Amino acid sequence: MLGKSSKRPKRIAIVSPKGGVGKTTVTANLAEALVALGRRVCAVDLDAQNALQFHLSADPVNPEGLASATLRGDPWKNGTRDGIENLSFLPYGFLSETHRDRFEHAVVDGQAWLAEGLSTVDAKGVDYTVFDTPPGPSEFQRAAVELADLVLVVVLPDAASFITVPTVERTIETYAGKACDQFRGLFFLVNRMNEGRVLCRDVQAMLSQRLGNRLVPVAVRFDAAAEEALAAQQTVLAYEPNGRAATDFDELAAWVEKTLR
Ligand SMILES: Nc1ncnc2c1ncn2[C@@H]1O[C@H](COP(=O)(O)OP(=O)(O)O)[C@@H](O)[C@H]1O
Ligand SMILES: [Mg+2]
Repeated sequence: MLGKSSKRPKRIAIVSPKGGVGKTTVTANLAEALVALGRRVCAVDLDAQNALQFHLSADPVNPEGLASATLRGDPWKNGTRDGIENLSFLPYGFLSETHRDRFEHAVVDGQAWLAEGLSTVDAKGVDYTVFDTPPGPSEFQRAAVELADLVLVVVLPDAASFITVPTVERTIETYAGKACDQFRGLFFLVNRMNEGRVLCRDVQAMLSQRLGNRLVPVAVRFDAAAEEALAAQQTVLAYEPNGRAATDFDELAAWVEKTLR
């Protein structure tokens, strides 16, 4: 038992101050790209929208998930689903409004509920846990960020994302890795990069100037296959493995491994 806990999984929190920037897409595809590098990965959906499961599986919607397991006091390990080999995922699950209210009240006190919930999942043998989170500040974002070894803030190469940088620096950055003994840092990841557009290139350059090495050196390019993959309920890596976005996710996974080594 002791041997296992000393080899706990590395935790990666995918966050953003804004919705619709690609957090869920990054979570699913980074998880799969890490699996392609030979790792065992668990993707955890902390967003009540439950979108992650649509990237990872075409299974019929199942209401069970970490939310109902927490309310019942059940171990989370029973709620993980198998996706691709070596990639399990834990959905948030669906709750009635009353139960959702109860669950949201149960998670207000720091990250202990998340650490405890994950303990039975970790014991199954996982190298990486990747958290998808709801947009903007919430207890879910905070718990994932506090526990993370690595925090990735997803931004678009546009003015609206650029102006959120100070907010991230004032808020998320102050508690990032607070409950992690080996925190490696908070980084910004550009998604939907379009090198053909001057504005995108300009914003990327401004981000680079402002953030220095806190900007991930890999940007995920805009790729229609990302949207098509979601329609087919697949990751981009499965849908178009040699496409632009898939190639970028492979590079991102290699950067994550190097950074967390
Ligand atoms: N690199 C990309 N290229 C093209 N479309 C993308 C890319 N990344 C994400 N998308 C699309 O953008 C939309 C929002 O992505 P999603 O991952 O759901 O964002 P979030 O979780 O931040 O709300 C989805 O339709 C998704 O398919
Ligand atoms: Mg999402």
